Amino acid sequence: MPTNSEPYVLHTWQQKQTDWNAPTVAGGEGSWFWDESGQRYLDLSAQAQCNHLGHQHPDLVAAIQRQAGELCFIHNAWGARPRAELAERIVDKSRLAGGKVFFTTSGAESTEHAVKMARWITGRRKIIGRYRSYHGATSNAITLSGDNRNWGVVAAPDVVHALPPYCYRCPLGQSYPACNLRCAQHIAELIEWEGPETVAALFVEPVVGTNGLFHGPGDYWRELRAICDRYGILLVADEVMTGFGRTGEWFAWQHWPDAAPDLMLLAKGLTAAHLPLGAVVLNQRCADFFDDHPLPTGLTYAGHPLCCAAGVAALDVYQRDGLVQRSAELGGWLLERLHAMAARHSVIGDVRGLGLFAALELVADRATRQPLAPWPQLPAGLKKLAAEAKRRGVVLGTRGNLVIISPPLNILHEDLEWGLNVLDEVMGEMANW
Ligand SMILES: Cc1ncc(COP(=O)(O)O)c(C=O)c1O
Repeated sequence: MPTNSEPYVLHTWQQKQTDWNAPTVAGGEGSWFWDESGQRYLDLSAQAQCNHLGHQHPDLVAAIQRQAGELCFIHNAWGARPRAELAERIVDKSRLAGGKVFFTTSGAESTEHAVKMARWITGRRKIIGRYRSYHGATSNAITLSGDNRNWGVVAAPDVVHALPPYCYRCPLGQSYPACNLRCAQHIAELIEWEGPETVAALFVEPVVGTNGLFHGPGDYWRELRAICDRYGILLVADEVMTGFGRTGEWFAWQHWPDAAPDLMLLAKGLTAAHLPLGAVVLNQRCADFFDDHPLPTGLTYAGHPLCCAAGVAALDVYQRDGLVQRSAELGGWLLERLHAMAARHSVIGDVRGLGLFAALELVADRATRQPLAPWPQLPAGLKKLAAEAKRRGVVLGTRGNLVIISPPLNILHEDLEWGLNVLDEVMGEMANW
């Protein structure tokens, strides 16, 4: 077994540090990267769903180098061209006309600041999130996340969780469309029980990320918008994972375009992970609030010019190369391919996805939908499958019973096909799960 190459580093999200043992990555290009031994990997996970343009995109590298040559850093107290330009471009793509952008340096910081803003804007305290969600690792963000990552570390008051619209395993025992969107009505009831005048905001991943890749049935999102309007509550779309074309729209809520959020959280694809940057996008009503109210918050590196230059370049590439549309089209092909795989492997209980964001949910029994392992445990079989795929050069996303396929949006069709063939092959070779 190779020895730990980073003995002085504490690695994130480990049960125990002694579990960590990964090769050192020496370089990358497009959807591929390679380690120091020369082994090459095709990345079907886009490095935690953030490398939307793969590695070392030449336009982003050039934009960062250009900006570094001009001005690496200037504090928010001063103007910076890339920051102004990126904010304008984000507001345009968000279709939140008259809106404004508050920059952060990560998804979690975007959540933290949206929580503060929602409280200031509404004068109310409570925030509703949902089980099976993730909003970041900082204090409010991890408390709001309805996820095992907050077990034992819940740190913030005034946070309430609602049941998620997880149709494959409906927590309300319903099925669509006979359910009449019971899951949305449940949120209205929760607001009534909590006291509508105490609730500031509802935070939702319009398409849930690694907690299950579901988005609720039919008009669920529109119904949430109507409920929030009824009670004067802000609707917050966490698009950290789903933004910038991942689901085949610029932002996932735009699949239900007449129901815009009040606040939108961004990070990851904002710079295609070439540099760290996050943002809260405010619609006009929320942005206007701060015209004559204090905004007593900020981060030293918020809107860092180098990061914003990378953001402008990333948006240019998404637009110029038609990658949002490509995600929708190639994502359609991907879903068909995964359904074909499901026809061959009974361990696949469900296939879900939107754009280049898809998941296989693995089951011990397709008829009863008995999970391969209780959520959120990683089943031994899936661990073995992912390790074998990696050995053959294909990196898959996994969480609980899910295999998550979320390649860079510019992955070559033939590379994606090859990677899926490897997955198909390895699944077929699994003697037991
Ligand atoms: C939906 C969502 N929100 C927030 C975050 C937190 O982002 P970061 O890790 O940049 O703090 C993530 C990270 O995966 C996410 O998927």
